[in-house]
Amino acid sequence: METKYKNIIYVIPALLVATAVCVFLVLFLRSDGKDPRPKLVIDHDGGADDAIAIFMALLYEKAFKGPEVIALTTVHGNVNESQVFTNTQRILNIADRQNVPIYRGSKTSFISNIESDYFFGYDGLGDNEVEEYEPIEAQDEHAAMALVRLARKYEGRLTVVAIGALTNIALAIKLDPRFRSRLAQLYVGAGHIHDENYKEAEFNAAMDAEAYRIITNGSKPEDLSIVPFSPIRKSVTVETDWRLNVLGAIPSTVMQYLNKFERLSIPAQAPQWVLLDPAVMAAAINDSMADWKMSYNSIGLCENRGIATNNFTSEKPNARVLYSMDRDEYKQLLYNIFSHE
Ligand SMILES: *[C@@H]1O[C@H](CO)[C@@H](O)[C@H](O)[C@H]1NC(C)=O
Ligand SMILES: *[C@@H]1O[C@H](CO)[C@@H](O)[C@H](O)[C@H]1NC(C)=O
Ligand SMILES: *[C@@H]1O[C@H](CO)[C@@H](O)[C@H](O)[C@H]1NC(C)=O
Ligand SMILES: *[C@@H]1O[C@H](CO)[C@@H](O)[C@H](O)[C@H]1NC(C)=O
Repeated sequence: METKYKNIIYVIPALLVATAVCVFLVLFLRSDGKDPRPKLVIDHDGGADDAIAIFMALLYEKAFKGPEVIALTTVHGNVNESQVFTNTQRILNIADRQNVPIYRGSKTSFISNIESDYFFGYDGLGDNEVEEYEPIEAQDEHAAMALVRLARKYEGRLTVVAIGALTNIALAIKLDPRFRSRLAQLYVGAGHIHDENYKEAEFNAAMDAEAYRIITNGSKPEDLSIVPFSPIRKSVTVETDWRLNVLGAIPSTVMQYLNKFERLSIPAQAPQWVLLDPAVMAAAINDSMADWKMSYNSIGLCENRGIATNNFTSEKPNARVLYSMDRDEYKQLLYNIFSHE
């Protein structure tokens, strides 16, 4: 009788410990392997238009349970890469999201780039007096390596939105030829839809034409969505007045900063306010706001250098190309997102 009683004293705690270990293992494995939330990385070149797109993603995550922004990667473009890094820190401070890791990327193009026109100011953010911000240390890993690693870690669940020169993304594809197909989607904001009368190179495409060629070479429409600037200019014609007096009147800290960051570019564009990067983010947030067409998309490297090409009747399309976007839905999305802080 006494011996049996003693055994039970040992057996019960042992069972409890074993159960706890099992429960812990099950929960741990589930959270590690099956975190279902979609992830987002933004590869950007530090202008006020990039700031709008980044704030959109951060606010959409917070207020609308949107994809989790797991990294920002920097690339040369509007301004040099070290200025892009500075601007990334400022943007994350304003959004109070210093926890988002920053991976620094390419400072130059593969072969040659074009000159920036400093459309958003020499510092990319309106050349204002710089507000106080808490410095954020960059991660050790290069942006391209981080993109490759994150695409494998979150296979099928990571969306990458590329709104600068395309050097980092092309490097990632060269490091891992399966990079594009591991992503949920790659959104690229670059190029125009050209016709015989319209042969101007778009900034992001021309900035690193070889990188653009690498991204579109061998891509599949289910992996690659291209948002060219010309259809945005045609269909998403937002009035300067709406930008200043409706969107710009939202009394949030983020909007106050955006008004400063766009101080130089809003008057330069008036009477319309048409930017590519926020439109790319809008399409990534809700792609049913846009009409897409299958295309064989590429870019000129010698003759017509930096000029993107589309064949909408090709039997072997390699990309889904945005053809138009609903202006009122776009404005509504911006207004809804920026009304939250
Ligand atoms: C980068 O751009 C900033 C702002 O225009 C400038 O002050 C800085 O000297 C540049 N840095 C390099 C390394 O070119
Ligand atoms: C395009 O892809 C093909 C194979 O799919 C390859 O032979 C060629 O070198 C690639 N071109 C570029 C510019 O990457
Ligand atoms: C996305 O856009 C479509 C078409 O404009 C709209 O009907 C739908 O409600 C939007 N979805 C979200 C989640 O905003
Ligand atoms: C577009 O693709 C179609 C079908 O493959 C082809 O017949 C046509 O020549 C291509 N057009 C151009 C301009 O390359």
